[in-house]
Amino acid sequence: MEQELIAEHVENNVQRKKMAKQEKEVKEPKKEISLYDLPGVGAATAEKLIASGYTDLMSIATAPPSELIDATGMGDALAKKLIAIARSSLEMGFETGEELLKKREQVIKFTTGSQALDTLLGGGIETGAITECFGEFGSGKTQIGHTMAVRVQKQIPGAIVVYIDTENTFRPERIIQIAEAEGMDPKEALQNIKVARAFNSDHQMLLGEKVEDLIKKQNLNVKLVVVDSLTAHFRAEYIGRGTLAERQQKINRHMRDLSRLGFLNNVCVYVTNQVMSRPDMFFGDPTAAIGGHIVGHASTFRIYLRKGKKGTRVAKLIDSPSLPEGEATFSVETGGLKDV
Ligand code: GTP
Ligand code: MG
Repeated sequence: MEQELIAEHVENNVQRKKMAKQEKEVKEPKKEISLYDLPGVGAATAEKLIASGYTDLMSIATAPPSELIDATGMGDALAKKLIAIARSSLEMGFETGEELLKKREQVIKFTTGSQALDTLLGGGIETGAITECFGEFGSGKTQIGHTMAVRVQKQIPGAIVVYIDTENTFRPERIIQIAEAEGMDPKEALQNIKVARAFNSDHQMLLGEKVEDLIKKQNLNVKLVVVDSLTAHFRAEYIGRGTLAERQQKINRHMRDLSRLGFLNNVCVYVTNQVMSRPDMFFGDPTAAIGGHIVGHASTFRIYLRKGKKGTRVAKLIDSPSLPEGEATFSVETGGLKDV
């Protein structure tokens, strides 16, 4: 009996691999080589790679060897060899300025509801990039996330929003209020937001990796991914100097995943970040973003948010590839972000 079951299990596995291979061939007729053709990669290893999100050669070409080793248990030499083969088969690396301009033309800018903030951001929050908002508690980081979750749907009807909530601050009621203010169907707006509560930093990282499945496997038109907050779990879990390097390494990997997700799928990634007090700083702004330069370098746009006069909010653009630094004042209202 037991042996029969094992035999059946083995047979099923063989069938599954065959089907996976055929499916792969049907889906990607043009690609010259697929995962399954990589030397040293059997069906089992290919499946492990796919299960870990390495579904195509591009994802292997851009992965560090250690991640392939973690995913499959393969040796260091093989991992490096696979990456080299994937790289050489992809003609990656250089694009002409013209090609990049074409890519830039596909970038969508989602408006925020405040013209002042849009102007500061060069038109709105962009797809293909990470926009990071950092600031003290109550400065409006979460409210921007809620507002964008609705506005993205207004700009692209039917667009899907993924909301990774680490602090249990996602409020459907706020979505309803903002959608109503925008003249949208609140029920539909809620249906198009996929909320996932992340219980710890590893869970958060896993959720980040799973977004690609929604796009590739479920064919969802994901246009915005919110991670609110990016750093809270990491901050709580890795305390003390000794664990700082590990924390930074993990945040780094998480940011890289998000960045790749945004870039390869033309998705807008919005992350929030707290500030930590810097009692050692007496001059200038005594605050610094958690995660420091690791988060900062991976974000394409960084906005520092603070409370302004009479309940307003002041956004300062800290870092951007092509925009001048500057400030914008807006307010958070029941209907979302508005100019003052
Ligand atoms: P932390 O997550 O604690 O770091 O703060 P945050 O930056 O995410 O702050 P959040 O976005 O939650 O901002 C909270 C503030 O938004 C509140 O203090 C209110 O001023 C404002 N706010 C939230 N909801 C509403 C609303 O329904 N109407 C209005 N007018 N303001 C709101
Ligand atoms: Mg918040």
